[in-house]
Amino acid sequence: MNVLVTGGAGYIGSHTAVELIHAGHKVIVADDLSNAKAEVIDRIETITGTRPAFYPIDCKDKAALDAVFAEHKIDAVIHFAAFKAVGESVQKPLAYYRNNLDSALTLLEVMEKFGCRKFIFSSSATVYGPDNPYPYKEEMPAVKSTSPYGQTKVMIERIIADYVAANPDFCAVLLRYFNPIGAHESGLLGDDPNGIPNNLMPYIGRVAAGKLEKLTIFGNDYPTPDGTCRRDYLHVVDLAVGHLKALEFAKDKTGVEAVNLGTGNGVSVLELVSAFQDANNIKIPYVFGPRRDGDLPAFWADAEKAKTLLGWEAQYSVEDMCRSAWNFAKNA
Ligand code: UFG
Repeated sequence: MNVLVTGGAGYIGSHTAVELIHAGHKVIVADDLSNAKAEVIDRIETITGTRPAFYPIDCKDKAALDAVFAEHKIDAVIHFAAFKAVGESVQKPLAYYRNNLDSALTLLEVMEKFGCRKFIFSSSATVYGPDNPYPYKEEMPAVKSTSPYGQTKVMIERIIADYVAANPDFCAVLLRYFNPIGAHESGLLGDDPNGIPNNLMPYIGRVAAGKLEKLTIFGNDYPTPDGTCRRDYLHVVDLAVGHLKALEFAKDKTGVEAVNLGTGNGVSVLELVSAFQDANNIKIPYVFGPRRDGDLPAFWADAEKAKTLLGWEAQYSVEDMCRSAWNFAKNA
């Protein structure tokens, strides 16, 4: 298939582009490089031997998207491009709602114009919000998140569901990611955010590399076994393969499906730090700090639906995640 990957130079998008190319699909990347680097496209080529077509465009730019669809016969779209920093979204809600909603709407409009009917959407476990018990199951209400960022995912899921209701020949898969970490085994692709990382693993990577002095663990008084938050960490390559499976599923289907992509296991912050230290033989100095606003004590996926519907199951261990994350971070 000819697959448009928006945000294809980003962390999850680039790993997905690699898996798509390996599976024989033609990849067209649209990425405005607002939180990614152009050299990622070279690295995708180095890994796969195939250079994806690349358009440095903003998905809110309808004319630019139109030109991409006019040039390539796009069979399916995987939509990653979005603002994604939870804390920043609390400070700049309008920027988040404008960017994330406008991009998704513009993309759907252009897809409609060109008769493209397969859509894989990058959603998040955050759509389950603070009120659902874990493990999270897809049939639980996903109507309230804890941040404007998360709320954009709730809203876009709703927009897509309404669109599919009006267009029964369309197929959309809403992939709800848990916590992707780790990196491509080549060490060429990984999570390399601009500035000081918000997320745990890239922060640990910078501490390991000596670029940051120590990790601050946000809270050790949660009602969890060791007092630190528990999350469902999954390898980004597993996550990328999940997109490939979703695409194969959508190929000859219609309708909308929400699917969790997680391992089904909860791991605490302290356990992850310890796994990183053991896997890489590096000490990570840390201190305990106050809780971070909006963090939930614990959540992980019920991973059954991904298995039965998509035939997808996470393959990599926490140790693999930690080793590959360091293999990337030490050269980043
Ligand atoms: N953490 C620290 N110190 C840090 C960074 C993180 O202790 O420097 C802790 C957090 O408090 C949390 C855990 O590590 O307990 C994981 O934090 P991340 O920021 O890596 O991930 P989150 O679970 O907070 O964020 C993820 C996704 C978001 C999504 C959010 C919803 O990255 O896209 O879940 O909760 F919106």
